[in-house]
Amino acid sequence: MQILMTGGSRGIGAEALRHLGRLPGARLWLGVRWPAPAGVTALPLDLASLASVAGFADAVIAGLAGQRIDALVLNAGGQRPSVAERSADGHELTFAANHLGHFLLLHRLAPHLADGARVVITSSGTHDPDERTGVPPPRHADARWLADPAQDPGLDGNPITAGMRAYAASKLCNLMTARVLAGDAAMAARGISVVAYDPGLTPGTGLVRQQMWPVRVLLWPLLPLLLPFGKTMNSLADAGRHLALLASDLRPPPGRVYASLRKGRITWPEPSALARDDMACRRLWQDSLALCGLAA
Ligand SMILES: NC(=O)c1ccc[n+]([C@@H]2O[C@H](COP(=O)([O-])OP(=O)(O)OC[C@H]3O[C@@H](n4cnc5c(N)ncnc54)[C@H](OP(=O)(O)O)[C@@H]3O)[C@@H](O)[C@H]2O)c1
Repeated sequence: MQILMTGGSRGIGAEALRHLGRLPGARLWLGVRWPAPAGVTALPLDLASLASVAGFADAVIAGLAGQRIDALVLNAGGQRPSVAERSADGHELTFAANHLGHFLLLHRLAPHLADGARVVITSSGTHDPDERTGVPPPRHADARWLADPAQDPGLDGNPITAGMRAYAASKLCNLMTARVLAGDAAMAARGISVVAYDPGLTPGTGLVRQQMWPVRVLLWPLLPLLLPFGKTMNSLADAGRHLALLASDLRPPPGRVYASLRKGRITWPEPSALARDDMACRRLWQDSLALCGLAA
């Protein structure tokens, strides 16, 4: 069983990897920026560089030597304190690493998925304004504006708000990508299931390590104390275990794409209104193809 994961070096992904590593016959492929954990085939990957993503995909395909991928787990993601940073390709960094890098990787690896394979993309409840997560929700999923926020007429004046909203928007893009892929007739014919996973608020990971010190040093370390009370909060162990389950065992019910972990249980709610907008999803897909230099 060939399992490929991004974002397995720490946090939710590292926790999931421990479970996936115990599956009989599992071979784990990891895309990493730094030296990787033992027992996995680790290849260099920086999702904020389309050249790095293409090189990683080529190395995986060569290493597979004709074998197929049974589970593709696109879990990597990060938050930034603003939208000022740019990727190697000149795109806003959060959007580039969280969405565009994964979008390109998906395109390169989709032909190498096994029949009946599983694709899991880690999204977030922050994509949905109705969830009231405290993170400013996305106003749109316009890839051109997200890649170049200076073009966005509604860009937040406060850099921290803009950075957090960009994170939520990138998670919306993850979800919309999953919806388009799940609706693809060729994927369905091959029995490939697609899930966008919301682990819920999961303290104890490295997600906020770029944020300002009050969030990093005070809020994040204290959040686990609120675990018994948080409606959408989960332990790191639960979030990682369920990511592994989605990659190996659980399948979405018919017509469902969005899996949200609530109090340690997988639920299958409707995603946000914008995520359900088929036209917006198709537009995001087309614009992302163009930004990745792929033909329609
Ligand atoms: N924690 C939460 O409350 C929460 C809630 C909802 C959704 N999520 C999502 O869950 C996923 C995992 O987050 P986490 O909380 O476990 O955070 P984390 O501990 O910071 O893990 C993030 C992972 O993504 C990798 N990564 C980040 N940028 C990358 C890049 N440019 N290229 C390659 N790898 C990159 C990191 O690798 P390095 O080791 O190289 O940094 C790390 O393995 C993310 O997609 C996040 O958006 C988290």
